[in-house]
Amino acid sequence: MIQAPKNLKTIEAHFLELQSIHPAASGDFTGLLSDITFACKVISREVNKAGLVDIIGATGDENIQGEVVQKLDEFANNVFLKCLGTRDQVCILGSEELDEPLFIDAHSGSGNYIVVFDPLDGSSNIDANVSVGTIFGIWKRKSRLNRVDLSDLLQAGCQQVAAGYVIYGSSTMFVYTAGHGVHGFTLDPSLGEFLLSHENITTPFTGEIYSVNEAYEPMWEPEIREVVRQIKYGQNTTSKRSDAPTSGAGKSTRYIGSLVADFHRNLLYGGIYLYPPTKNKPQGKLRLMCEAAPLAMIAEDAGGYASDGKQNILDIIPTEMHMRVPLYIGSRGDVMWIEQMLSKK
Ligand code: AHG
Ligand code: MN
Ligand code: MN
Repeated sequence: MIQAPKNLKTIEAHFLELQSIHPAASGDFTGLLSDITFACKVISREVNKAGLVDIIGATGDENIQGEVVQKLDEFANNVFLKCLGTRDQVCILGSEELDEPLFIDAHSGSGNYIVVFDPLDGSSNIDANVSVGTIFGIWKRKSRLNRVDLSDLLQAGCQQVAAGYVIYGSSTMFVYTAGHGVHGFTLDPSLGEFLLSHENITTPFTGEIYSVNEAYEPMWEPEIREVVRQIKYGQNTTSKRSDAPTSGAGKSTRYIGSLVADFHRNLLYGGIYLYPPTKNKPQGKLRLMCEAAPLAMIAEDAGGYASDGKQNILDIIPTEMHMRVPLYIGSRGDVMWIEQMLSKK
């Protein structure tokens, strides 16, 4: 029997289906997700031109229209600021590139969402043509009638209503969750549309890959060194029950240095990403609100897990927008094993 071909589905059609699950929805959330996808298309176009910078003018030079060529992370940040909340859906925007959160004048019934983003992740890789990304988390405003304040911004990751990332790689892909599974969409540049390519992504319980910058080993605490040593030498010290935490045996290293790219590969194949604390960065390097919490929501919704070594990343309440956390994220069994090892300290 001939199988009917799978229908093509655009991301907009997918968002509308999501909206129909919530009949009382105003459309603000759908509009916000659409604004984010549009911003990411603009960033994708610019990232693809990055190799031409030496030919058409370096950062700081004037381009052919007489405009100053911006650094890509600055450019991506401005695109997000220009595209988001054009329909009054947003009350606070937070960015890795902004020292302070941006409070947008919102009144009762409007500006229900808070968006925190890393506009360009892995930006030091851009000149080498290595994949970079964008990460975002969306929270809902808590105060209804009063003006929004810092307590609306500083919410735990478990309060996110959606989170996602875009990887600008061999193709551009948008991966997100709004609590109904993790879905991936690949950009067809000729159509300018994200098309559903990875429905209901799930990640293996344990994986064969570990991703960490091992050059920092001299600056790690002994217990981190021991965790990585056991991962590397495949010393599985835990029981073999299929639901028990395990340390997969003798994993391979893959470290790109772009969190989005390392996370994306491990999500699809199974594996763990580690950014432990070091002597000179006791809280690690990665930011809770614009990097760790959004990716933690995606990891959990795909069956994985994220920890700071002691607790679920999603349970941490930020004390400030740029708060940093150690991060262990990926296959659930592997991250639980790390948490168990570190709790023996
Ligand atoms: P960003 O480009 O947004 O500043 O993030 C860079 C981050 C992350 O993408 C990556 O995993 C990590 O920095 C790499 O750090 P190290 O060079 O210290 O390994
Ligand atoms: Mn980053
Ligand atoms: Mn960044």
